[in-house]
Amino acid sequence: FSAPVLAIDGPSGSGKGTISRLVAQRLGWHYLDSGALYRAVGVAAGWADLDLDDHGALVRCTFDTEVGFRDDGRGELRVLVNGTDATDELRTETAGAAASAIAAIPEVRAALKDRQRRFRQLPGLVADGRDMGTVIFPDARFKVFLTASAEERAQRRYKQLNDKGVSVTLDGLLREILARDARDAQRAVAPLRPAEDAVHIDTTGVGIEDVVERVLEIVNP
Ligand code: C5P
Repeated sequence: FSAPVLAIDGPSGSGKGTISRLVAQRLGWHYLDSGALYRAVGVAAGWADLDLDDHGALVRCTFDTEVGFRDDGRGELRVLVNGTDATDELRTETAGAAASAIAAIPEVRAALKDRQRRFRQLPGLVADGRDMGTVIFPDARFKVFLTASAEERAQRRYKQLNDKGVSVTLDGLLREILARDARDAQRAVAPLRPAEDAVHIDTTGVGIEDVVERVLEIVNP
């Protein structure tokens, strides 16, 4: 017997992170932000000044990078990379782009597989990523694939970054999002694609609370 898993996959900016955290809170289940693991390796590689083309060094870096998650008590997840709180650095587009490059290396994905599976614990796990329902938890009891138009996803990211005082342009973000989508969908290992048995939810123009309700209905009809 293993704990139930709700896999929530989708492209960047589809609202996965926000929705998954809220659903996990409401269900009282554990939460895995798998993208944070890839981002953490990206940040650690940056700290070590590694070349993103040096796959051997990146694979070693993956094994050497310790990632810890800590609830800050206000429902926000802090991420520790080798003991240092790197939450803000992890969210930057630089870290996202590095993560996406690193995530295309098969040995890196293999090295992170067991780490992700260890999050599966009672009473249940909400797992957020690109390949939760296809590769990491193919036997997940519930699978959701979230989408939203690229324009809306760029706008959400723009608002998020603007609120944090980061200066970016909407156009630049849209270009970065499209480039990252293309790379994530076209890579040879674990490309971004919905599991055959996933329920698709398009979140374009839909409020967060409504999406949360629809996902909760899948778990508790
Ligand atoms: O979800 P997030 O934007 O934090 O993920 C950052 C990058 O990590 C993605 O663009 C993707 O390349 C990679 N990733 C992945 N598999 C996952 C989660 C993230 O390849 N399960």
